[in-house]
Amino acid sequence: MKEKFDKLRQEIESDKQHIVDLNSLNDFRVKYLGKKGVLKLMMKEMGSLNPDERRDFGQMVNQIRDELEILIAEKKSEAEQMELNAKLAKENIDVTLDIEEKYIGTRHPINHAIKELVDIFTSLGYKVNEGPEIETVFNNFDALNSPIDHPSRSENDTFYFSDGLLLRTHTSGVQIRTMQSEDLPIRMISPGRCFRKDELDATHSPMFNQFEGLVIGKGITMADLKGTLTSFAKKMFGEDTKTIFRPHDFPFTEPSAEMDVSCFKCKGEGCKFCSGNGSIEILGCGMVHPKVLMSCGIDPNEYSGFAFGMGVDRIAMLKYEIDDIRLLYQNDIRFLKQF
Ligand code: DAH
Repeated sequence: MKEKFDKLRQEIESDKQHIVDLNSLNDFRVKYLGKKGVLKLMMKEMGSLNPDERRDFGQMVNQIRDELEILIAEKKSEAEQMELNAKLAKENIDVTLDIEEKYIGTRHPINHAIKELVDIFTSLGYKVNEGPEIETVFNNFDALNSPIDHPSRSENDTFYFSDGLLLRTHTSGVQIRTMQSEDLPIRMISPGRCFRKDELDATHSPMFNQFEGLVIGKGITMADLKGTLTSFAKKMFGEDTKTIFRPHDFPFTEPSAEMDVSCFKCKGEGCKFCSGNGSIEILGCGMVHPKVLMSCGIDPNEYSGFAFGMGVDRIAMLKYEIDDIRLLYQNDIRFLKQF
């Protein structure tokens, strides 16, 4: 009987060497402790032994079972640790490896221009107001003192909806919204998209961007308008920029003017940018018409103000030397990447 157990121990010792992972450990366990395993078979043999032998035999089998169980538990935790280590080694991240460079895009030239404009005017104490692109006929035309037969009101020029609404043709309607809803005094700017039935060519687009400004207070004069807009022009186009105000006609301002700036490319000598004029037209402006103030419930005897409006696309094109407005709206990444 002793020989039998010695042999069994030797076999266990030799099989033990082959346990390298959880799978081989399981094979080992099944071989010795499984339902049809070596120990179960030995227990069956016990029936043919005499009582004394049977007791010793039983003790030996139990002892071996205890040893095997301890061995298996040890091997199991070893194998689990080994598998975990292997997994960690495989999933190791090399933080020194170069990453694939991602292209995150750049600011659109129109947004560059808007940002510059907004920065300049907010530094002068203006707040930014946004208005809707779908506007009422009242805010876009009537309240701005636009004559009923003004050509800009025609269906040939303006995109109308059926119920007194349109796609705004300028950002000037935001003046009305602001004066009707905000406390005085007012100092506001408003960038935004506008729409007109223009044919698309190098200088026209049915969708374009404007930038509006409005100041309302007590004792505001044309001198404030000229001082503010000249200071803006210097910040935007360079300290040596000169401004010229030419009389003009807008329904919503009286008097009205257009402002030109000395050409910031040739400094007034005349070049292809300024078409040889030495100056470039930048914006429309004027003192807010008393009728416009009244349409917003403001007493023109007590308050006055000035307003201005400019084409952002034109300014972006001038500043960044873009010679075709269509480039701004085609979203060609090769073009946009340059800014
Ligand atoms: N709304 C005018 C246009 O679209 C631009 C303009 C001119 C706005 C004079 C103003 C202004 O506020 O005072 O051409």
